[in-house]
Amino acid sequence: MAAYAPGEVIKQLALEVGASAALVGTDVPDRNRIDWSFLPASTPLAVFRPSTTEEVSTILRTCHKAGIAVTPQGGLTGLCGGARPLDGGVGLSMERMTGIDQIDADGMTMTVRAGTPLETVQQAAEEAGLFFALDLGARGSCAIGGNLSTNAGGNRVIRYGMARELVLGLEVVLPDGTVLPMLNRMLKNNAGYDLKQLFLGAEGTLGVITRAVLRLHPKPGCVAAALCVVTGYDKVLELLGTARRSLGPFLSAFEVMWADYWHQATERVPGGKAPVSMGDGTHVVLVEMQALDDEIDVVRFDAWLERLFDDGAIEDGAVARSLTDIADFWGTRDAAAEFANPDVIGPHISFDIGLPIRRIEEFVNRSKPLLLEQLGCHSVHYGHVGDGNIHIVAWVPGAASQPLPAVSEIVYGIVRDLGGTVSAEHGIGLLKKPYLKFTRDEAQIDLMRRIKRCVDPNGILNPTKIFD
Ligand code: FAD
Ligand code: LAC
Ligand code: ZN
Repeated sequence: MAAYAPGEVIKQLALEVGASAALVGTDVPDRNRIDWSFLPASTPLAVFRPSTTEEVSTILRTCHKAGIAVTPQGGLTGLCGGARPLDGGVGLSMERMTGIDQIDADGMTMTVRAGTPLETVQQAAEEAGLFFALDLGARGSCAIGGNLSTNAGGNRVIRYGMARELVLGLEVVLPDGTVLPMLNRMLKNNAGYDLKQLFLGAEGTLGVITRAVLRLHPKPGCVAAALCVVTGYDKVLELLGTARRSLGPFLSAFEVMWADYWHQATERVPGGKAPVSMGDGTHVVLVEMQALDDEIDVVRFDAWLERLFDDGAIEDGAVARSLTDIADFWGTRDAAAEFANPDVIGPHISFDIGLPIRRIEEFVNRSKPLLLEQLGCHSVHYGHVGDGNIHIVAWVPGAASQPLPAVSEIVYGIVRDLGGTVSAEHGIGLLKKPYLKFTRDEAQIDLMRRIKRCVDPNGILNPTKIFD
């Protein structure tokens, strides 16, 4: 491999794919040097922006031969450094591979190119009278290929599952340039190994996803949402139990915001609104239902909430009366995206841990005082409690740089004690690499390494991510 001079290879490749598809040296835009993690920007040799699967194949085949590291990039909204190119490597941005190829209303599928923004996919499904269920705060910027490569979770996992469950087929280019056309459109297909699963959640380390066949659902006939204030985590669990029983499969989101989060989101975020008053409550729960009929299901939803209030299960609540109300309720949850603003919290460390649902409050009660006493580190908590997944935003006010290792040791140490996972939805990337072993034992990590070596023998595809 040393026989190839990377600069020369890049120059040749740029000629082959065309000037507009290659940004070399100082032409690499700042946005392609880092994702949404607070890591420093990197210095790749180039960023390629192919328009076709064939171009992706050419770029990978060439880099495979020359031993040049390639990092796939979607919308660059990842939070753990997965899409950060290596110094001296290249970025492979999917930003020009956008568009919907086909919607099959009978099969309820959509075939889409990997660089398409999630919001565009959602809108295209909606226009076809259908529904694409994946949803997350970064919907306008993230790309479907990035969503699948991180196996994104988001707001409606409790009802529809994670990204993995919303995919029927993929087109993938392997590190040596081989194209795998696995654009299966059937719900059932047991003809051998389900190879697409290898690439879902692989964080761009095994192949580049160029197209996907997505699974669509019927468009909900009606939506209802409420913000419920409760006192004590036991009441959160009680509410989750009754929501599951009373709303059945219509329950589409169960998001919880702790008081520490609520105050930041509604009082510090510019334009933040508090649709319900928290009073002395400890948690605000956003419950959403996607159902069939306004006059039947929404009426039942309202009656259910009234009963909860009368029984003292919730302290206070607000029921959405319009789509604007629903958007305002979700606004309290999406406000987390503004925390990086220096007028709110500024640079911080964020976590996406998973825990057995019953143990989540125990985690908060252990980690919050430890972080504060040992490191002067503040923390706020919110997340997808219905999925056993919470986010922690942690920061030392005024610190020149945030003490990532010390904070991570405390957080992940407790996660390990409680039998949780260091990443429920964002992936490992660079930031969580030292802690993968807190969740996966040596035999599992060894198998991951062997799969990686088998699929990518020259180790060119997003090396240094997930594990070394
Ligand atoms: P990128 O950041 O560009 O890449 C992510 C990883 O995928 C990298 O390892 C990259 O190499 C790889 N990759 C990208 N495209 C491809 C491809 N075509 N083929 C192979 N590998 C590829 N995440 C959640 O799970 N749930 C949430 O609720 C959520 N909310 C968020 C809210 C905000 C405001 C922000 C900023 C982020 C949020 N995220 C959330 C994290 C992030 O949006 C997701 O991880 C998202 O799926 C990343 O998509 P992306 O296109 O930006 O990927
Ligand atoms: C959220 C992201 C951070 O749920 O996963 O807000
Ligand atoms: Zn999340």
